Amino acid sequence: MIARFGRPLVKSSSLSASNPLTCFARFSTTKHTLSSRESPSSVHAQQKRSWLPPYAPVGVAAALENAESSAPAESTLLEKEFSLADRVALVSGANRGLGLEMAMALLEVGSRAVYCVDLPRTPGEEWNKVQQYISRMSGKGRLEYIAADVRDQNAMWKIGEQIGEKEGRLDTCIAAAGILRPDFDCLQYPAETFSEVMGINVNGVLYTAQAAGRQMERFGNGGSIILVASMSGSITNMHQKWVPYNTSKSAVLQMGRSMACELASRRIRVNTLSPGYIYTTLTGQFLDSQPGLLENWSAQNPTGRLGRPDELRGAVAWLASDASTYCTGSDIIVDGGHRAW
Ligand SMILES: NC(=O)c1ccc[n+]([C@@H]2O[C@H](COP(=O)([O-])OP(=O)(O)OC[C@H]3O[C@@H](n4cnc5c(N)ncnc54)[C@H](O)[C@@H]3O)[C@@H](O)[C@H]2O)c1
Repeated sequence: MIARFGRPLVKSSSLSASNPLTCFARFSTTKHTLSSRESPSSVHAQQKRSWLPPYAPVGVAAALENAESSAPAESTLLEKEFSLADRVALVSGANRGLGLEMAMALLEVGSRAVYCVDLPRTPGEEWNKVQQYISRMSGKGRLEYIAADVRDQNAMWKIGEQIGEKEGRLDTCIAAAGILRPDFDCLQYPAETFSEVMGINVNGVLYTAQAAGRQMERFGNGGSIILVASMSGSITNMHQKWVPYNTSKSAVLQMGRSMACELASRRIRVNTLSPGYIYTTLTGQFLDSQPGLLENWSAQNPTGRLGRPDELRGAVAWLASDASTYCTGSDIIVDGGHRAW
């Protein structure tokens, strides 16, 4: 499994190990004067500094490597870099809403199994329908369900261990479980509700990331952890009194950056995903009971509408896959331009 990322960029026979400058000259697209200093973009230098996938080289390096060959050339971007073939994922809050949408996306790009963790003892109707739909797609993996509370660190770690035992790997994690409580004056905000929001949106996100990250480290394949934050971590939602929610999402942004820096050397990437307003049960509690709110929220971004859950699929597929191997410690904003205004 270590070989997945550990193979050299080119076959050893095609390298001139004794003379790295030969490689430099061969892979350059511009004319260079050979110097005694090795180019950082040479194949030899890349081999020393990166873990490369078994299907490398890709892109321009592949074209140059195979320039003399008349064999049919194969594209790799969608087939390899964006593929999650054989990978295993854990997604919290995936009984419904954005978590379920993202879990389904991971399966569509090839995951072998996606484990959805959520509170209800058994999954809901929406989840069951998605599972049945995926089972009708040819060659797709399994959508599994595990009931747990993300605030229970021991339970979350055990879930990670069980997945590791059963699957022999754990490659992707999406921490999507989160709550948003009704508006309340910040000067009167009750301690209990504040703690509840922080407990799920911050502690629970850490425990979920730990559960998966510990298995990523155990199996040595690296991995991608996606913490679901929100645009509310960087801006204050106009006219909403959401101090604990916004505070919790800021914490998630910083958690992502800090974990990314600690885990990069273990080839575990950590990024945050910050959606704007999207209609789900979480936002429905406001939109369904306040006439005019839909128009109000929609008017706050240049697209003039709310996002759809499926509009996160591409970002998740990219973040989870080898297509984003140099992206860590970043916040990916998908908000219809809300923060651009
Ligand atoms: N909908 C939006 O507009 C929006 C925007 C930005 C960020 N987000 C974030 O996206 C994530 C998903 O939200 P959603 O809109 O799909 O909401 P949702 O309410 O539909 O889904 C949240 C899920 O988390 C689960 N959950 C809550 N507490 C849990 C716990 N203690 N343990 C395990 N699971 C728990 C819920 O049961 C639910 O299935 C949240 O983190 C939310 O803050 C949502």
